[in-house]
Amino acid sequence: VVDIRKLYAQTGMFTYDPGFLSTASCQSSITYIDGDKGELLYRGYPIEQLATKCDYLDTCYLLLNGELPGAGQRDDFHKLVLKHTMVNEQMQFFLRGFRRDAHPMAVLTGLVGALSAFYHDSTDINNPEHRHIAAIRLISKMPTLVAMAYKYGKGEPYMYPKNDLSYSGNFLRMMFGTPCEEYQVNPVIERAMDRIFILHADHEQNASTSTVRLCGSSGTNPFAAIAAGVACLWGPAHGGANEAALNMLEHLQANGGIAKVGEFMEQVKDKNSGVRLMGFGHRVYKNYDPRAKLMQETTNEVLQALGLENDPLFALAKKLEQIALEDDYFVQRKLYPNVDFYSGIVQRAIGIPVNLFTGIFALARTVGWIAQLNEMISDPEYKIGRPRQLFVGSPRRDVPELAQR
Ligand code: ACO
Repeated sequence: VVDIRKLYAQTGMFTYDPGFLSTASCQSSITYIDGDKGELLYRGYPIEQLATKCDYLDTCYLLLNGELPGAGQRDDFHKLVLKHTMVNEQMQFFLRGFRRDAHPMAVLTGLVGALSAFYHDSTDINNPEHRHIAAIRLISKMPTLVAMAYKYGKGEPYMYPKNDLSYSGNFLRMMFGTPCEEYQVNPVIERAMDRIFILHADHEQNASTSTVRLCGSSGTNPFAAIAAGVACLWGPAHGGANEAALNMLEHLQANGGIAKVGEFMEQVKDKNSGVRLMGFGHRVYKNYDPRAKLMQETTNEVLQALGLENDPLFALAKKLEQIALEDDYFVQRKLYPNVDFYSGIVQRAIGIPVNLFTGIFALARTVGWIAQLNEMISDPEYKIGRPRQLFVGSPRRDVPELAQR
């Protein structure tokens, strides 16, 4: 690793690295990925152990504080998060300004940014207390906001949070409950939802996290920085890939299903077709994405619990994966399923509409964004992010008179 800042100070040389293929933008002690081994650690703990031994709020505590909570700390943290799940009533009126058929990510970008207009005591990013309360509010309120966006789109009444439920149980009730009847949380679905949240909680310096850091580096308020992350996550090459992967599977299913898989894969391999196998490939993982394995396991459990073992999309996804793992095109390029390949199937089985998948991802990733923002602001060396450019435009020239242009 070369600390290019020293070289720049001595010689004025700087690097040209579009897409940040080989440039570290920060030092971080939160998440570690070994792309060749297919390993993901949050604060040193393997994702497989966190996904089986901890819940999402334990994971949030870990990401924010560096250590897993002890029994008392766990209890206090759960109570604190669940205490802040309500949003200001005025948020409903803000929501009403959107068309009902607006994409939930468009709505969510607005709602998260709007929090800064309601919680003035947590907007100073340089004040650790403000950052702490903003963090708790964001983690607590994201499920409420995502569920509100969903209910609004359907024209159904909002469900207020019920804070004696778990974080994930509460979210499921706000999504699928109605004021007319008692909602029973299915423990298998609750655990699956929680696992989806854990697997998406952080992933070091991906595009949305880097966006949050860059946005926060100007000293803007934490809600605005997180809203920027939501906006970035929306793209199909990033968080939008789960939506794109499911749309791809549904399209394939409607156009011949498993019988047409071979033909589809030929299209994917043809560079002129512009077709990519969505949910495949990753900038860092050049071996299997460990989250994809866990997600496949969860998909199995949920489909079984719901009596959907023969789900044709799941069969299709597994067939695509099997072909890819044996095909030179994918093997040579080290393309494996990423977390998004199976997450759409499980979310669809739970009843989450496809256009809300990325909203669920944003909900889960909020804690990672906050932890990364905190880490950046707490670093005494932190500066406003200001990338350099390699200028390739016209040299200096004079503006000609209109008649000469
Ligand atoms: N299907 C077909 N070919 C692919 C795919 C794919 N999904 N992904 C990469 N390739 C090919 C590229 O065409 C390229 O081939 P070439 O070397 O012959 O030109 C090679 O593999 C390398 O691809 P790049 O695009 O250079 O890899 P990069 O690291 O820039 O991109 C990315 C990674 C964006 C994830 C890419 O693999 C992709 O578009 N995947 C599909 C979208 C997706 O699933 N995104 C989710 C990422 S995970 C997340 O955000 C949670």
